[in-house]
Amino acid sequence: MNILRDQSLQPYNTFGFIQSAEYFVELKNSDDTLAALEFCRKKNCQLTVIGDGSNLVVADNIPGLTVRMTNKCVDHHSDGNRQIVTVDAGLNWDTFVGMMVNAGAYGLENLSLIPGTVGAAPVQNIGAYGVEIANTILSVTCVDLDTQEICEMTVDDCGFSYRNSIFKQSSSIRGSAIRRGIHTPRYLITAVTFGLSDIFSPELSYEALLRFADQNALPAGNAAEIRALVIAVRQSKLPDPAALGNAGSFFKNPELTGEQARKFRASWPDAPCYPGGNGQYKIAAGWLIDQAGWRGFKEISGDVGVYDKQALVLVNHNSEHAEKLIKLAADIKSSVQEQFDITLEQEPRTIP
Ligand code: EPU
Repeated sequence: MNILRDQSLQPYNTFGFIQSAEYFVELKNSDDTLAALEFCRKKNCQLTVIGDGSNLVVADNIPGLTVRMTNKCVDHHSDGNRQIVTVDAGLNWDTFVGMMVNAGAYGLENLSLIPGTVGAAPVQNIGAYGVEIANTILSVTCVDLDTQEICEMTVDDCGFSYRNSIFKQSSSIRGSAIRRGIHTPRYLITAVTFGLSDIFSPELSYEALLRFADQNALPAGNAAEIRALVIAVRQSKLPDPAALGNAGSFFKNPELTGEQARKFRASWPDAPCYPGGNGQYKIAAGWLIDQAGWRGFKEISGDVGVYDKQALVLVNHNSEHAEKLIKLAADIKSSVQEQFDITLEQEPRTIP
Protein backbone atom coordinates (compact mmCIF):
# COMPACT_ATOMS: atom_id res chain seq x y z
CA MET A 1 0.00 0.00 0.00
CA ASN A 2 1.48 3.28 -1.13
CA ILE A 3 0.20 6.32 0.76
CA LEU A 4 0.85 9.50 -1.20
CA ARG A 5 1.20 12.97 0.30
CA ASP A 6 -0.60 16.07 -1.09
CA GLN A 7 -2.05 14.20 -4.04
CA SER A 8 -3.98 16.31 -6.55
CA LEU A 9 -7.54 15.04 -6.89
CA GLN A 10 -7.92 16.45 -10.39
CA PRO A 11 -7.84 12.99 -12.04
CA TYR A 12 -10.31 11.71 -9.45
CA ASN A 13 -13.23 14.11 -9.86
CA THR A 14 -15.09 14.52 -13.13
CA PHE A 15 -15.49 18.29 -12.67
CA GLY A 16 -11.67 18.38 -12.83
CA PHE A 17 -11.13 20.62 -9.78
CA ILE A 18 -7.51 20.68 -8.62
CA GLN A 19 -7.85 20.42 -4.84
CA SER A 20 -5.60 17.89 -3.17
CA ALA A 21 -5.80 15.24 -0.48
CA GLU A 22 -3.39 15.49 2.44
CA TYR A 23 -2.87 11.71 2.20
CA PHE A 24 -4.22 9.52 -0.59
CA VAL A 25 -4.21 5.80 -1.19
CA GLU A 26 -5.76 3.28 -3.57
CA LEU A 27 -7.07 0.14 -1.86
CA LYS A 28 -6.66 -3.08 -3.82
CA ASN A 29 -7.94 -5.58 -1.26
CA SER A 30 -9.25 -5.98 2.29
CA ASP A 31 -5.72 -6.01 3.77
CA ASP A 32 -5.14 -2.57 2.24
CA THR A 33 -8.45 -1.42 3.68
CA LEU A 34 -7.58 -2.54 7.19
CA ALA A 35 -4.10 -0.98 6.88
CA ALA A 36 -5.69 2.32 5.80
CA LEU A 37 -7.98 2.28 8.82
CA GLU A 38 -4.95 1.58 11.04
CA PHE A 39 -3.16 4.56 9.46
CA CYS A 40 -6.10 6.84 10.35
CA ARG A 41 -6.26 5.51 13.86
CA LYS A 42 -2.54 6.03 14.48
CA LYS A 43 -2.46 9.51 12.96
CA ASN A 44 -5.85 10.36 14.42
CA CYS A 45 -6.74 11.78 11.03
CA GLN A 46 -10.07 11.70 9.27
CA LEU A 47 -11.00 9.28 6.51
CA THR A 48 -12.73 10.26 3.26
CA VAL A 49 -13.88 7.72 0.68
CA ILE A 50 -14.24 8.52 -3.02
CA GLY A 51 -15.06 6.42 -6.10
CA ASP A 52 -14.41 7.64 -9.64
CA GLY A 53 -15.46 11.12 -8.46
CA SER A 54 -18.34 11.34 -10.93
CA ASN A 55 -20.86 12.51 -8.34
CA LEU A 56 -18.58 14.75 -6.37
CA VAL A 57 -17.87 18.45 -5.89
CA VAL A 58 -14.40 18.78 -4.37
CA ALA A 59 -14.76 22.18 -2.72
CA ASP A 60 -11.41 22.43 -0.91
CA ASN A 61 -8.27 20.48 0.01
CA ILE A 62 -9.19 17.37 1.99
CA PRO A 63 -7.47 16.88 5.34
CA GLY A 64 -6.55 13.35 6.51
CA LEU A 65 -6.59 10.21 4.37
CA THR A 66 -8.64 9.95 1.18
CA VAL A 67 -9.12 6.41 -0.13
CA ARG A 68 -10.33 4.97 -3.39
CA MET A 69 -11.17 1.30 -3.95
CA THR A 70 -9.48 -0.26 -6.98
CA ASN A 71 -10.33 -3.96 -6.46
CA LYS A 72 -12.03 -5.29 -9.59
CA CYS A 73 -12.82 -9.04 -9.35
CA VAL A 74 -16.08 -10.50 -10.65
CA ASP A 75 -17.52 -13.81 -9.42
CA HIS A 76 -20.41 -15.10 -11.50
CA HIS A 77 -22.52 -18.26 -11.14
CA SER A 78 -26.08 -19.43 -11.61
CA ASP A 79 -28.28 -20.70 -8.76
CA GLY A 80 -30.68 -22.31 -11.24
CA ASN A 81 -33.10 -19.36 -11.14
CA ARG A 82 -30.83 -16.36 -11.44
CA GLN A 83 -27.33 -15.28 -12.30
CA ILE A 84 -25.62 -14.39 -9.04
CA VAL A 85 -22.79 -11.93 -9.60
CA THR A 86 -20.50 -10.54 -6.91
CA VAL A 87 -18.39 -7.62 -8.09
CA ASP A 88 -15.63 -5.72 -6.34
CA ALA A 89 -16.27 -2.05 -5.66
CA GLY A 90 -13.44 -0.68 -7.81
CA LEU A 91 -14.67 -1.96 -11.18
CA ASN A 92 -15.94 0.72 -13.56
CA TRP A 93 -19.74 0.56 -13.67
CA ASP A 94 -20.17 0.64 -17.43
CA THR A 95 -17.44 -1.98 -17.96
CA PHE A 96 -19.43 -4.22 -15.63
CA VAL A 97 -22.72 -3.58 -17.45
CA GLY A 98 -21.04 -4.44 -20.77
CA MET A 99 -19.64 -7.68 -19.28
CA MET A 100 -23.10 -8.71 -18.04
CA VAL A 101 -24.81 -8.04 -21.38
CA ASN A 102 -22.13 -10.13 -23.12
CA ALA A 103 -22.52 -12.91 -20.53
CA GLY A 104 -26.32 -13.12 -20.99
CA ALA A 105 -27.11 -11.81 -17.48
CA TYR A 106 -29.91 -9.27 -17.88
CA GLY A 107 -31.40 -6.35 -15.97
CA LEU A 108 -28.66 -3.72 -16.03
CA GLU A 109 -28.63 -2.77 -19.73
CA ASN A 110 -30.73 0.41 -19.18
CA LEU A 111 -28.04 1.61 -16.76
CA SER A 112 -25.35 1.66 -19.46
CA LEU A 113 -22.78 4.47 -19.57
CA ILE A 114 -23.54 5.83 -16.11
CA PRO A 115 -20.16 7.13 -14.92
CA GLY A 116 -18.59 5.83 -11.70
CA THR A 117 -17.63 2.59 -10.01
CA VAL A 118 -19.65 -0.45 -8.93
CA GLY A 119 -19.01 0.52 -5.29
CA ALA A 120 -20.45 4.00 -5.75
CA ALA A 121 -23.57 2.75 -7.52
CA PRO A 122 -25.59 1.66 -4.44
CA VAL A 123 -24.73 4.86 -2.55
CA GLN A 124 -27.15 6.94 -4.57
CA ASN A 125 -29.17 4.04 -5.95
CA ILE A 126 -28.25 4.94 -9.52
CA GLY A 127 -31.15 4.92 -11.93
CA ALA A 128 -31.95 5.69 -15.55
CA TYR A 129 -34.52 4.86 -18.22
CA GLY A 130 -36.97 3.06 -15.94
CA VAL A 131 -34.46 0.99 -13.93
CA GLU A 132 -32.90 1.54 -10.51
CA ILE A 133 -29.99 -0.50 -9.25
CA ALA A 134 -32.03 -1.37 -6.12
CA ASN A 135 -34.15 -3.69 -8.30
CA THR A 136 -31.20 -5.96 -9.03
CA ILE A 137 -29.11 -5.87 -5.84
CA LEU A 138 -29.17 -8.88 -3.51
CA SER A 139 -26.63 -7.62 -0.97
CA VAL A 140 -23.81 -5.17 -0.38
CA THR A 141 -20.57 -6.06 1.41
CA CYS A 142 -18.98 -3.26 3.40
CA VAL A 143 -16.67 -2.36 6.21
CA ASP A 144 -18.41 -0.62 9.09
CA LEU A 145 -15.93 2.17 9.76
CA ASP A 146 -17.21 2.59 13.30
CA THR A 147 -16.63 -1.01 14.35
CA GLN A 148 -14.10 -2.01 11.63
CA GLU A 149 -16.15 -5.13 11.03
CA ILE A 150 -17.08 -6.53 7.64
CA CYS A 151 -20.84 -6.65 7.20
CA GLU A 152 -23.18 -7.99 4.59
CA MET A 153 -26.26 -5.81 4.05
CA THR A 154 -29.29 -7.40 2.43
CA VAL A 155 -31.21 -5.27 -0.06
CA ASP A 156 -33.74 -4.48 2.69
CA ASP A 157 -30.98 -3.28 5.02
CA CYS A 158 -29.79 -0.83 2.35
CA GLY A 159 -32.79 1.53 2.72
CA PHE A 160 -32.95 2.30 -0.98
CA SER A 161 -35.16 5.12 -2.26
CA TYR A 162 -34.86 7.63 -5.11
CA ARG A 163 -31.14 8.52 -5.33
CA ASN A 164 -30.73 7.56 -1.69
CA SER A 165 -29.62 4.72 0.58
CA ILE A 166 -28.23 3.96 4.02
CA PHE A 167 -24.76 4.42 2.47
CA LYS A 168 -25.33 8.17 2.30
CA GLN A 169 -26.02 8.47 5.99
CA SER A 170 -23.05 9.63 7.99
CA SER A 171 -24.16 9.08 11.59
CA SER A 172 -21.45 7.70 13.81
CA ILE A 173 -21.57 5.56 16.92
CA ARG A 174 -19.99 7.02 20.03
CA GLY A 175 -16.35 6.26 20.63
CA SER A 176 -15.63 5.16 17.05
CA ALA A 177 -11.89 4.75 16.53
CA ILE A 178 -11.99 6.17 13.00
CA ARG A 179 -12.68 9.83 12.44
CA ARG A 180 -14.69 10.25 9.28
CA GLY A 181 -14.92 13.30 7.06
CA ILE A 182 -18.24 15.06 7.54
CA HIS A 183 -19.72 13.56 4.39
CA THR A 184 -18.00 10.21 4.62
CA PRO A 185 -20.64 7.61 5.41
CA ARG A 186 -20.35 4.93 8.03
CA TYR A 187 -20.03 2.07 5.56
CA LEU A 188 -17.24 1.58 3.05
CA ILE A 189 -18.59 -0.58 0.24
CA THR A 190 -16.14 -3.28 -0.87
CA ALA A 191 -18.36 -5.44 -3.13
CA VAL A 192 -21.91 -5.69 -4.44
CA THR A 193 -23.90 -8.87 -5.21
CA PHE A 194 -26.52 -8.74 -7.96
CA GLY A 195 -29.28 -11.19 -8.91
CA LEU A 196 -29.65 -10.93 -12.68
CA SER A 197 -31.99 -12.70 -15.04
CA ASP A 198 -31.21 -15.46 -17.56
CA ILE A 199 -34.17 -14.31 -19.59
CA PHE A 200 -34.09 -11.00 -21.41
CA SER A 201 -37.13 -8.83 -20.79
CA PRO A 202 -36.91 -5.34 -22.29
CA GLU A 203 -37.68 -2.34 -20.07
CA LEU A 204 -38.88 0.28 -22.51
CA SER A 205 -41.38 2.21 -20.39
CA TYR A 206 -39.34 5.43 -20.46
CA GLU A 207 -41.02 7.37 -23.23
CA ALA A 208 -37.95 9.36 -24.33
CA LEU A 209 -36.03 6.13 -24.90
CA LEU A 210 -38.58 4.70 -27.35
CA ARG A 211 -38.95 8.08 -29.04
CA PHE A 212 -35.20 8.28 -29.57
CA ALA A 213 -35.19 4.71 -30.96
CA ASP A 214 -37.98 5.60 -33.44
CA GLN A 215 -36.43 8.88 -34.52
CA ASN A 216 -33.04 7.31 -35.12
CA ALA A 217 -34.28 3.96 -36.44
CA LEU A 218 -32.41 2.10 -33.70
CA PRO A 219 -33.48 -1.45 -32.80
CA ALA A 220 -34.29 -2.45 -29.20
CA GLY A 221 -34.91 -6.17 -29.57
CA ASN A 222 -32.16 -7.58 -27.35
CA ALA A 223 -30.00 -6.47 -24.44
CA ALA A 224 -27.03 -5.44 -26.61
CA GLU A 225 -29.35 -3.27 -28.72
CA ILE A 226 -30.89 -1.65 -25.65
CA ARG A 227 -27.41 -1.00 -24.30
CA ALA A 228 -26.42 0.63 -27.61
CA LEU A 229 -29.64 2.67 -27.60
CA VAL A 230 -29.12 3.91 -24.03
CA ILE A 231 -25.52 4.82 -24.84
CA ALA A 232 -26.66 6.76 -27.92
CA VAL A 233 -29.39 8.64 -26.04
CA ARG A 234 -27.05 9.51 -23.15
CA GLN A 235 -24.35 10.68 -25.54
CA SER A 236 -26.87 12.87 -27.35
CA LYS A 237 -27.75 14.90 -24.25
CA LEU A 238 -25.17 14.41 -21.55
CA PRO A 239 -21.64 15.77 -21.88
CA ASP A 240 -18.71 13.34 -21.76
CA PRO A 241 -16.84 14.19 -18.52
CA ALA A 242 -13.54 13.49 -20.31
CA ALA A 243 -14.30 16.40 -22.66
CA LEU A 244 -16.29 18.75 -20.41
CA GLY A 245 -16.22 18.59 -16.59
CA ASN A 246 -19.58 17.65 -15.08
CA ALA A 247 -21.25 15.30 -12.57
CA GLY A 248 -24.40 14.31 -14.47
CA SER A 249 -27.64 15.60 -12.98
CA PHE A 250 -26.69 18.29 -10.49
CA PHE A 251 -30.11 18.30 -8.79
CA LYS A 252 -32.61 15.57 -7.99
CA ASN A 253 -36.03 15.65 -9.59
CA PRO A 254 -38.23 17.16 -6.84
CA GLU A 255 -40.91 14.87 -5.39
CA LEU A 256 -44.36 16.26 -4.66
CA THR A 257 -47.40 14.81 -2.90
CA GLY A 258 -50.49 14.19 -5.06
CA GLU A 259 -52.07 17.41 -3.80
CA GLN A 260 -48.90 19.49 -4.42
CA ALA A 261 -48.54 17.95 -7.88
CA ARG A 262 -52.17 18.78 -8.73
CA LYS A 263 -51.68 22.45 -7.75
CA PHE A 264 -48.38 22.62 -9.59
CA ARG A 265 -49.89 21.16 -12.77
CA ALA A 266 -52.75 23.67 -12.59
CA SER A 267 -50.20 26.50 -12.85
CA TRP A 268 -47.77 24.72 -15.19
CA PRO A 269 -49.74 22.27 -17.35
CA ASP A 270 -46.78 21.63 -19.67
CA ALA A 271 -44.37 20.58 -16.94
CA PRO A 272 -43.22 16.93 -17.17
CA CYS A 273 -44.65 15.25 -14.07
CA TYR A 274 -44.88 11.48 -13.48
CA PRO A 275 -45.65 9.05 -10.67
CA GLY A 276 -42.52 8.43 -8.60
CA GLY A 277 -43.78 5.65 -6.29
CA ASN A 278 -45.21 5.91 -2.75
CA GLY A 279 -48.02 8.10 -4.07
CA GLN A 280 -45.48 10.84 -4.83
CA TYR A 281 -44.98 12.63 -8.14
CA LYS A 282 -41.68 13.66 -9.66
CA ILE A 283 -41.24 16.84 -11.66
CA ALA A 284 -38.31 17.22 -14.06
CA ALA A 285 -35.77 19.55 -12.42
CA GLY A 286 -34.23 20.01 -15.89
CA TRP A 287 -37.52 21.47 -17.12
CA LEU A 288 -37.75 23.88 -14.13
CA ILE A 289 -34.17 25.09 -14.65
CA ASP A 290 -34.73 25.36 -18.39
CA GLN A 291 -37.95 27.39 -17.90
CA ALA A 292 -36.12 29.64 -15.45
CA GLY A 293 -33.86 30.54 -18.37
CA TRP A 294 -30.63 28.81 -17.36
CA ARG A 295 -30.09 26.31 -20.18
CA GLY A 296 -26.86 27.14 -22.02
CA PHE A 297 -25.97 29.86 -19.45
CA LYS A 298 -22.28 30.75 -19.04
CA GLU A 299 -21.06 32.56 -15.95
CA ILE A 300 -19.48 35.94 -16.83
CA SER A 301 -15.89 34.66 -16.75
CA GLY A 302 -16.99 31.75 -18.98
CA ASP A 303 -15.52 29.32 -16.45
CA VAL A 304 -18.66 27.43 -15.43
CA GLY A 305 -22.16 27.11 -16.84
CA VAL A 306 -25.25 25.06 -17.61
CA TYR A 307 -25.14 22.47 -20.40
CA ASP A 308 -27.05 23.59 -23.48
CA LYS A 309 -28.67 20.21 -24.22
CA GLN A 310 -29.78 19.38 -20.64
CA ALA A 311 -30.29 22.12 -18.06
CA LEU A 312 -29.90 19.66 -15.17
CA VAL A 313 -26.18 19.35 -15.88
CA LEU A 314 -23.77 22.00 -14.60
CA VAL A 315 -20.47 22.10 -16.44
CA ASN A 316 -16.94 23.25 -15.69
CA HIS A 317 -15.50 24.93 -18.79
CA ASN A 318 -12.34 26.27 -17.28
CA SER A 319 -12.35 26.60 -13.50
CA GLU A 320 -9.69 25.11 -11.24
CA HIS A 321 -11.81 25.51 -8.11
CA ALA A 322 -15.42 24.75 -7.19
CA GLU A 323 -16.30 28.22 -5.85
CA LYS A 324 -17.96 29.57 -9.01
CA LEU A 325 -19.86 26.34 -9.60
CA ILE A 326 -21.19 26.36 -6.04
CA LYS A 327 -22.32 29.99 -6.50
CA LEU A 328 -24.00 29.11 -9.82
CA ALA A 329 -25.85 26.18 -8.20
CA ALA A 330 -27.07 28.48 -5.41
CA ASP A 331 -28.28 31.07 -7.96
CA ILE A 332 -30.16 28.40 -9.93
CA LYS A 333 -31.71 27.07 -6.75
CA SER A 334 -32.99 30.48 -5.66
CA SER A 335 -34.34 31.35 -9.09
CA VAL A 336 -36.30 28.06 -9.27
CA GLN A 337 -37.53 28.67 -5.72
CA GLU A 338 -38.68 32.16 -6.65
CA GLN A 339 -40.40 31.21 -9.90
CA PHE A 340 -41.96 27.85 -8.94
CA ASP A 341 -41.85 27.78 -5.12
CA ILE A 342 -39.96 24.48 -5.37
CA THR A 343 -36.75 23.70 -3.49
CA LEU A 344 -34.12 21.87 -5.51
CA GLU A 345 -31.88 19.38 -3.75
CA GLN A 346 -28.29 18.86 -4.89
CA GLU A 347 -27.45 15.36 -6.09
CA PRO A 348 -23.61 15.24 -6.00
CA ARG A 349 -21.81 15.13 -2.65
CA THR A 350 -19.73 18.20 -1.75
CA ILE A 351 -16.50 17.43 0.13
CA PRO A 352 -14.69 18.01 2.42
N1 EPU B 1 -36.22 18.83 -19.90
C1 EPU B 1 -36.35 20.12 -20.37
N2 EPU B 1 -35.22 20.87 -20.47
C2 EPU B 1 -34.00 20.43 -20.13
C3 EPU B 1 -33.87 19.10 -19.64
C4 EPU B 1 -35.00 18.31 -19.53
O1 EPU B 1 -37.44 20.58 -20.69
O2 EPU B 1 -33.03 21.19 -20.24
C5 EPU B 1 -37.41 17.96 -19.83
C6 EPU B 1 -37.31 16.86 -20.90
O3 EPU B 1 -37.81 17.28 -22.13
C7 EPU B 1 -38.14 15.76 -20.32
C8 EPU B 1 -37.93 15.94 -18.82
O4 EPU B 1 -37.43 17.25 -18.62
O5 EPU B 1 -39.49 15.94 -20.60
C9 EPU B 1 -37.02 14.89 -18.23
O6 EPU B 1 -35.74 14.97 -18.86
P1 EPU B 1 -34.83 13.68 -19.14
O7 EPU B 1 -35.61 12.62 -19.83
O8 EPU B 1 -33.57 14.16 -19.75
O9 EPU B 1 -34.55 13.07 -17.72
P2 EPU B 1 -34.20 13.77 -16.33
O10 EPU B 1 -35.39 13.61 -15.42
O11 EPU B 1 -33.70 15.15 -16.55
C10 EPU B 1 -33.31 11.64 -15.12
C11 EPU B 1 -32.09 11.32 -14.27
C12 EPU B 1 -30.87 11.02 -15.14
C13 EPU B 1 -31.23 9.86 -16.05
C14 EPU B 1 -32.44 10.24 -16.90
C15 EPU B 1 -32.93 9.12 -17.76
C16 EPU B 1 -32.37 12.47 -12.16
C17 EPU B 1 -32.01 13.66 -11.34
N3 EPU B 1 -31.84 12.44 -13.37
O12 EPU B 1 -33.00 12.86 -15.80
O13 EPU B 1 -29.83 10.63 -14.29
O14 EPU B 1 -30.15 9.54 -16.90
O15 EPU B 1 -33.56 10.60 -16.03
O16 EPU B 1 -33.54 8.15 -16.97
O17 EPU B 1 -33.14 11.62 -11.70
C18 EPU B 1 -27.92 11.39 -13.09
O18 EPU B 1 -28.51 11.06 -12.04
O19 EPU B 1 -26.76 11.90 -13.06
C19 EPU B 1 -28.60 11.26 -14.36
C20 EPU B 1 -28.07 11.70 -15.50
